[in-house]
Amino acid sequence: MRISVIGCGYLGAVHAACMAELGHEVIGIDVDQHKIDTLAAGRAPFFEPGLPELLTSAIGSGRLSFSTDIAAAAGAAVHFVAVGTPQLGDSNAADLRYVNEAIAALLPVLRPDDVVAGKSTVPVGTAARLAAIVEPTGATLAWNPEFLREGFAVQDTVAPDRLVYGVRPGDEASVAALDAVYAAALANDTPRIVTDYATAELVKVSANAFLATKISFINAMAEVAEATGADVTQLADAIGYDARIGRRFLNAGLGFGGGCLPKDIRGFMARAEELGVDQALTFLREVDAINLRRRDRMVELATEVVGGDVAGKRIAVLGLAFKPDSDDVRDSPALDVAVKLAELGAIVTATDPEAVETSRRLRPELTYVSTAEDAVAGADAVLLLTEWSQYRELDPVALTSLVSVPAILDGRNCLDPALWRAAGFSYRALGRP
Ligand code: UDX
Repeated sequence: MRISVIGCGYLGAVHAACMAELGHEVIGIDVDQHKIDTLAAGRAPFFEPGLPELLTSAIGSGRLSFSTDIAAAAGAAVHFVAVGTPQLGDSNAADLRYVNEAIAALLPVLRPDDVVAGKSTVPVGTAARLAAIVEPTGATLAWNPEFLREGFAVQDTVAPDRLVYGVRPGDEASVAALDAVYAAALANDTPRIVTDYATAELVKVSANAFLATKISFINAMAEVAEATGADVTQLADAIGYDARIGRRFLNAGLGFGGGCLPKDIRGFMARAEELGVDQALTFLREVDAINLRRRDRMVELATEVVGGDVAGKRIAVLGLAFKPDSDDVRDSPALDVAVKLAELGAIVTATDPEAVETSRRLRPELTYVSTAEDAVAGADAVLLLTEWSQYRELDPVALTSLVSVPAILDGRNCLDPALWRAAGFSYRALGRP
């Protein structure tokens, strides 16, 4: 099947490569010449495990190519729109500029019976509006939200846990086209839900709202644990055994960040307000607030540990990415804490296995080093802010001779307190004694 993918960011590049690997003939399109050149050379413009290998193999097979020219999308039966919908600078709402531009650019290449399949996360009501623009060409529009997680993007694309198609009622042709695209996943009994546009759009934002709520719930419990001497990690284990609750996404710590959860819950609230149902989502304001409070709490804890004032203190920051196995620092809690401490006068030395360059681009004022050993040298406190496996496995005994004061702050509740204390470190964490 011939497929085009408009927008080659975290979502589109992975989608394009995976679809080609599954046997389709794919053209990836983006307005960013540098990104297209990088991808065409078989290199991933961002860190995503498995993606470089997939790009090399798919390009080598002749089934995957890239272009900045939208005309190259002509002849594809399905055109996926995978451009970004970031938060607007001056409000909580999503910026739909790139989606609108992608659809406008596609119009001249669309043929009757082509399917435009939106993947971007959009405010409910967008698909119906775009369908009215697309349909005069004879093409149809479907909304096919994406649930991939960074770090697991390849696996989540090739073997998704469900497929959702939002289509016009009775549009069997779009359903058949998407079924052909996803034939491999469907053959493995992947659940498929065919629904209307509004439901498909809402599935995506409500899934992210639920996940964000689950994380903020456990972080709220961490606040209570801090006031009572309880241990939120044991609490999470204990409630997580209840299958109705489940242990996943109950890791208390610095909270959520990244390019999806924070902006999606804000965009959802903004859309609910427009629809006159803002009360239904007032709780998301609290979810956002709990999440941001964790960052302040970390700064407070660091201040306490170094004796009441961070000014002039050497703070080592291990981890900058919003989560491990990613170089993404969009709305990263870790980078945010590092910046806040530096603003308070701390001498911050930060490192991350993959996210130093992305951090430097956003925050050139911080001092970056490439190894954990260099970061902790002479430190008055070490902050573990992203739970990369290499940091979880650090040997506290080996670090004692490098630091100035053996103090570890575990921002992700991922270390064994007994091990660090036995090595002579003072251990502090969020929601844990
Ligand atoms: C998320 C959704 O999981 C995915 O389905 C959607 O398509 C895009 O948004 P992603 O942004 O890649 O994916 O990250 P995710 O793994 O969900 O983690 C989000 C944030 O929550 C990270 O900052 C992570 O550190 C944090 N988190 C996650 C917690 O703080 N505690 C947890 O228990 C789980």
